[in-house]
Amino acid sequence: MAGLLRQTGPLACIVGARPNYMKMAPLIRAFGARSDLPEVVLVHTGQHYDVAMNERLFADLELPPPDLNLEVGSGTHAVQTAEIMRRFEPVLDRLAPSCVIVVGDVNSTLACSLVATKKRTPVVHVEAGLRSFDREMPEEINRILTDQIADLLFTTEHSAADNLAREGIGVERVRFVGNVMIDSLLRHRQRAVPPADTLARAGVAADFLGGGPGYGVVTVHRPSNVDEPAALRESLSILRDVAARMPLIWPVHPRASANIACFGLSSLLEGARIALLPPQGYLEMLGLLANAHLVLTDSGGIQEETTALSVPCLTMRDNTERPITVEQGTNTLVGRNRARTVECVDEILRGGGKRGRTPELWDGRAALRIADELCRWLGLSALRHEKAHA
Ligand code: UD1
Repeated sequence: MAGLLRQTGPLACIVGARPNYMKMAPLIRAFGARSDLPEVVLVHTGQHYDVAMNERLFADLELPPPDLNLEVGSGTHAVQTAEIMRRFEPVLDRLAPSCVIVVGDVNSTLACSLVATKKRTPVVHVEAGLRSFDREMPEEINRILTDQIADLLFTTEHSAADNLAREGIGVERVRFVGNVMIDSLLRHRQRAVPPADTLARAGVAADFLGGGPGYGVVTVHRPSNVDEPAALRESLSILRDVAARMPLIWPVHPRASANIACFGLSSLLEGARIALLPPQGYLEMLGLLANAHLVLTDSGGIQEETTALSVPCLTMRDNTERPITVEQGTNTLVGRNRARTVECVDEILRGGGKRGRTPELWDGRAALRIADELCRWLGLSALRHEKAHA
């Protein structure tokens, strides 16, 4: 991409869905603090649009409101991805950015990367190289393809560089910088909302937690766990078994709640000690996670957040694209295996469970490193540009 850099154009930063916001917020802060970087234009694709999935998180994370919202909304993968591409192309033409900066692995990440690379605008991917090796996951496809076309790739853990090398991506494109998601966590930890306040606000009875061993937090929304009636039934009955041991708090993603209703499975939750909450703000979620006895999840980001918080995490998947959370952190893969899950929960309740350690460079400074690298890279590319045209 050297020689094509439009150096004076802004940094076009893309967000689309909830897990993007905690990654982008520290980047925007770090970029904005540098007079040697171009200005930032924040583009929201509108993939997520509910207030609860969106505006509250922006406020909690101190993200400025987007400069542009493409308002694509929901759809099948093809429709959503195509619609983002269709609407982003004229925006890219108008902005003529120095580069397009994408984070994570959602449909918006791939869609905007594709548009940019075909317009020969450099793509910068933050959180590159993670692989679950499970192509059933839509995010895995987004990761592989985004990394192939990205010009500069920032990684959170060493396994990512190995994955990228295996896929033929040159080391000169890759930088290990740490984890921007943990930048957000460390910045906001002191402001986390106490769990009792979150429960009270959601109308959960004050005695819900009882005097027991604490509570567990649940998040389950992956298509593999909630999109098929049999899988969702299995997931819910595992949660019931765990709830018989300790109360559970579950902020329910719209995909999961829609499917519970649609498949007629609400009765499985009746009588169980599971507090069902609407999607929560960032500070509420941080408070719930930080004070939990354990977390049961199929989210990517929460595997990392629990490792940073030293809270045992049982991941309801057979694989993870974040192996460091298992090797060094607090994460254990339990799939939808009821016996294994219950065994792990009992062990945690007996005082066991992984405490882990914080992975290298998950220190709250990843965005600053990225800003440094980006500055150097834009300068370098400009130099090459001059040479190429000398
Ligand atoms: C997306 C990401 C996933 C991420 C998740 C976090 C992809 C492929 N997946 O999945 O990696 O973990 O976000 O939340 O990009 N909906 C609403 N309101 C909203 C957004 C969605 O009600 O604001 C409902 C709609 O019914 C929609 C469904 O949720 O059809 C799924 O939304 P979508 O953005 O397609 O994928 P997620 O499951 O949210």
